[in-house]
Amino acid sequence: MSTRGAGFYRGLLVVGVLGLACVSVPAAAAQPGSEPGQQLYRQHCALCHQDSGAGNPPTFPALRANDQLGDQARIVRSINAGRGRMPPFPALTAEDIARVANYIRNAWANDFGGVTTEAVTAALEGLEEAGPMASVWDGVFTEAQATRGEAVYTGACAFCHGRRLNGAPDDPDMRSTPPLARARFLRVWNGRSLATLLAYTRATMPEDNPSSLTTQENVDVIAYLLSVGGMPTGDDELLPDLRGLARVVIGPQP
Ligand code: HEC
Ligand code: HEC
Repeated sequence: MSTRGAGFYRGLLVVGVLGLACVSVPAAAAQPGSEPGQQLYRQHCALCHQDSGAGNPPTFPALRANDQLGDQARIVRSINAGRGRMPPFPALTAEDIARVANYIRNAWANDFGGVTTEAVTAALEGLEEAGPMASVWDGVFTEAQATRGEAVYTGACAFCHGRRLNGAPDDPDMRSTPPLARARFLRVWNGRSLATLLAYTRATMPEDNPSSLTTQENVDVIAYLLSVGGMPTGDDELLPDLRGLARVVIGPQP
């Protein structure tokens, strides 16, 4: 309970800080004074593992003082291809993975040593190719799917995130929550994939009853969020598959 409460306020703080920073700096990744590995970590990993590396166990493991980080090849595989409920990151190059792996192995009180791009390239052998990526603006869900998702959203999410997905709850006495569509959502989620959105949502939402929805229901809700955000519909549904969703990136309207 207390962890969740702390996470909520931390979340508000992060959203608030990004909101301010983004008045002058449009790209969410731009974090003055931080090195590239830390920037990558903040953009792609901190949502679940936290800036402090403490994670949110048991849902999201701590990376601080996590002995698994001694195994370089295992880290590379987890980032590139995912692991269990962790989404894959097929868009990260060997150089990006080396940077973020270096960061997590030496941040906080960790002392697991460096990682070279060569070692990452060797560990990537036979894993996900850095293939074509799609955007949420490419027509990646259908209208029927968004309609199904709307029914799920109304029953399981609107209560806290608001009927208009603007984060203002239906009950005025309730604390506000992050918006799930439009400019502020796009800024916070810029550069992240739909696999991250699915993995996070499936494990933590609805906040009052996490993991109570099926994966299909979660994917349908995502289609609904995108439709409210103004993204176009297409001929094919979004599939409940982290690998495919990892190749669809959230970003500004082209
Ligand atoms: C009981 C209230 C509650 C319900 C119901 C709920 N949420 Fe949330 N949601 C929250 C809170 C609080 C946060 C902020 C968590 C944090 O930052 O630690 C949040 C955060 C999120 C985020 C991350 C947004 C961001 O930018 O950080 C997503 C995505 C999300 N919720 C989706 C959903 C979906 C989809 C549903 C319905 C299946 C849902 N939520 C139901 C309270 C709720
Ligand atoms: C949507 C949430 C989420 C995001 C985002 C995320 N992770 Fe994870 N991570 C997890 C979960 C869940 C596990 C536990 C996986 C399991 O063992 O089932 C995990 C496990 C790990 C592990 C330990 C794996 C092992 O060897 O046991 C490492 C290292 C890790 N994550 C690094 C990262 C890095 C680096 C990023 C960013 C590039 C990242 N994670 C982004 C959820 C996430």
